[in-house]
Amino acid sequence: MSDLKNDRLLRALLREPVDVTPVWVMRQAGRYLPEYRAKRKRAGDFMALCQNPQAACEVTIQPLDRFDLDAAILFSDILTIPDAMGLGLYFEEGEGPRFRKPVRSAKDIEELTPVNTTSDLPYVLDAIRLIRSELNGRVPLIGFSGSPWTLATYMIEGGSSKDFARIKTMAYSNPALLSVLLEKLAVSVTDYLNAQIMAGAQAVQIFDTWGGVLSGKAYREFSLKYMARIVAGLNTQAEGRTVPVILFTKGGGGWLEAIAATGCQAIGLDWCQDIGEARARVGDRVALQGNMDPAVLRASTTAIEAEVATILQSYGQGAGHVFNLGHGVTPDIDPQQVAAFVDAVHSMSVNYH
Ligand code: CP3
Repeated sequence: MSDLKNDRLLRALLREPVDVTPVWVMRQAGRYLPEYRAKRKRAGDFMALCQNPQAACEVTIQPLDRFDLDAAILFSDILTIPDAMGLGLYFEEGEGPRFRKPVRSAKDIEELTPVNTTSDLPYVLDAIRLIRSELNGRVPLIGFSGSPWTLATYMIEGGSSKDFARIKTMAYSNPALLSVLLEKLAVSVTDYLNAQIMAGAQAVQIFDTWGGVLSGKAYREFSLKYMARIVAGLNTQAEGRTVPVILFTKGGGGWLEAIAATGCQAIGLDWCQDIGEARARVGDRVALQGNMDPAVLRASTTAIEAEVATILQSYGQGAGHVFNLGHGVTPDIDPQQVAAFVDAVHSMSVNYH
């Protein structure tokens, strides 16, 4: 069952030797692909795609049929957890995610029950089992979750936010109340990721998209502490292998040493830091994933190749690097530029291994 034909991703995440640097792309299944847009149209909307395991499986595999990627990532969303907690997730065209019942008061927080993945989110586990069977060992499957802090921003703000006014007000005026919510989310995320691993996820990533809007002290108190608890609570042995855990805090470049100390196997980097400097700081404690600016994909193939070369050279010789963008690929990107990116990573990285 765990006979992987391509295990570069898992090897690099554990800092084991590889032939070339593995590469995958955050949001690799998404609106920049015409076949995704067609499938979503037929399914009705985005959540219908997520909740239909057959459709989620098909969309997960779409980018693998186009590009020479070294991993699949489950097609789903981080907001499945608050949706399962009863907040009523919906997507307003052009406005991103919204909740019908945002969490605002002490009563709202006390009434929330942590998710039981098997009974509350069976569609996610069904999708994972189906994708594993369809992949048939082609590449590993990455599972994921949002971090408690990042989930809490959406739950309290009621959707996307620019200033995080409501959650920051709570953090600084009633930190004990916020910690009750973050604790329930940490329990939920631990259960969610353990269930994903049991269903067949071979690596997991925690998306802490909004950790970087905090001060260093607030980051440790409201985001990192809960991610460390989750890492400690994961059962990371499955099918005779270690399931690596990747922590991605966007804007977390100042705190790499602290993130490495959680016990995660890898840190996801955005493009705002030099990957060579990051490597010098974390040494051989963790692998690094990243970190090309997604905006480079709007430029020429030559510019993409130059940027890939710069990042490979900055990281330097040896294992422990998974190539990715520093954040998700955007809907305006031409798929041919993604192909150029993936192929450049493979062809140019031979010299570093
Ligand atoms: O990476 C992948 O290909 C796997 C699928 C995936 C999606 N969302 C699909 C998606 C993953 C890993 C996510 C994570 C996610 N979702 C994050 C963390 C990652 C990040 O980007 O920092 C966040 C913050 C969310 C919440 C969310 N979901 C937002 C803000 C949006 C709207 C985005 C937009 O540009 O409109 C979504 C919707 C969403 N999730 C889409 C996809 C493909 C677009 C939905 C559509 O219209 O088809």
